Amino acid sequence: MTGRDVLISACFLFEILKGLFLMPFIDIKETVTGPGYRIFIGDSLDMLPEELALPGVGDRKALIVTDSNVEKFHLNEVFPVLKSCFKELYSIVIPAGEENKNMDRVMEILDRLIELHFDRNDLIVALGGGVIGDMAGFASAVYLRGIRFIQIPTTLLSQTDSSIGGKTGVDLHSYKNMVGAFHQPAFVYINTGFLKTLPKREFASGMGEIIKHGLIRDNSYYEWLINHFNEINDQDSETLIKMIYESLKIKAFIVEEDPTEKGIRALLNFGHTIGHAIEKYMDFKLLHGECVALGMIAASRISYDRGYIDTEEFYEIRDIFLPFNLPLSLACDADPEEILKITKLDKKMDKGKIRFILLKRVGKAVIDSTVTDEELLRGINELIIKDED
Ligand SMILES: NC(=O)c1ccc[n+]([C@@H]2O[C@H](COP(=O)([O-])OP(=O)(O)OC[C@H]3O[C@@H](n4cnc5c(N)ncnc54)[C@H](O)[C@@H]3O)[C@@H](O)[C@H]2O)c1
Repeated sequence: MTGRDVLISACFLFEILKGLFLMPFIDIKETVTGPGYRIFIGDSLDMLPEELALPGVGDRKALIVTDSNVEKFHLNEVFPVLKSCFKELYSIVIPAGEENKNMDRVMEILDRLIELHFDRNDLIVALGGGVIGDMAGFASAVYLRGIRFIQIPTTLLSQTDSSIGGKTGVDLHSYKNMVGAFHQPAFVYINTGFLKTLPKREFASGMGEIIKHGLIRDNSYYEWLINHFNEINDQDSETLIKMIYESLKIKAFIVEEDPTEKGIRALLNFGHTIGHAIEKYMDFKLLHGECVALGMIAASRISYDRGYIDTEEFYEIRDIFLPFNLPLSLACDADPEEILKITKLDKKMDKGKIRFILLKRVGKAVIDSTVTDEELLRGINELIIKDED
């Protein structure tokens, strides 16, 4: 079965489930990094107790790890629902923000687990965005050499991307995701209802990774996104569920093929090499998805310069970010040479060469280790508003 076949059958399954008034789910196969697990996608918490009735859960303790914003909006609603699913339930609240995705906060979580006498069969529940998912996932990967964790993602980015695939970790000094482990969740519960309280800019940031899924793997999904931007921005429930389902199918297909990023999983880094450099260059004032959008424009420019995509396709890619409230450019005083320097410090190197992701065509990304500094600079310069603009 090809990736395309998986997507077609995914769309078909979506239609069947919708017809039966059932919410869609995705079953992730077992990989070398851990057992398989289920992702449930719905627009409420109604199905959580039923879906969480997994073997060895009801008689265990659980610790909810959440952040200060999610606590304010959603902990009161989630806590009683989860309380019915475990023998004992506790929570720990970490201050919100990427600057808290660090070892000190992981230590706080580990100390709490020790204090509560958690054993190897108890669980962590990550209730929050990618920061909480990565950090709580990492704590569960290392506590007693690994305990189970459940992802309840609350941002668009975490619902369509970071909650699956098993990459967990924290930042070290100013290096993103420098320390971590592959540790798969035991279950992922997606409730699009959480997105109603998400700030608009955070919602837009999530769209960066979603557009990436279409660009690297499926042209028709990318076209569908263009054609549904109104319903997506209006957060129409059915449209969101379908979008999350299809994005996760693409990510699931890639991570199942290559769970530890030895090969095709690197395709998910499309837009990330220059994007991460911009994130650092801008001192993390731009959001992750905003930087990935800029990185994708730069990478598409390199693909265009190589003749892989034509002028119309390049400008369509650049312009798709506008209706989704993502940036197309950096300020005119941004220093392309400095961004290039940071890009080359990126950890995704292959024998001293950057493993760059290019678009061979719209819907098909490839790994390329031959991208030169001149090409990178032209890509980065595409993002910088010239005086005459
Ligand atoms: N593990 C992976 O595969 C993977 C993939 C992509 C990104 N990431 C990581 O994910 C992180 C970014 O994730 P993110 O964009 O979700 O950021 P985040 O977790 O910082 O959440 C963004 C903001 O939204 C708030 N928030 C979360 N849910 C909310 C809700 N429902 N209502 C109101 N506010 C809410 C948070 O408190 C935070 O202020 C980065 O650290 C990135 O490295 C990991």
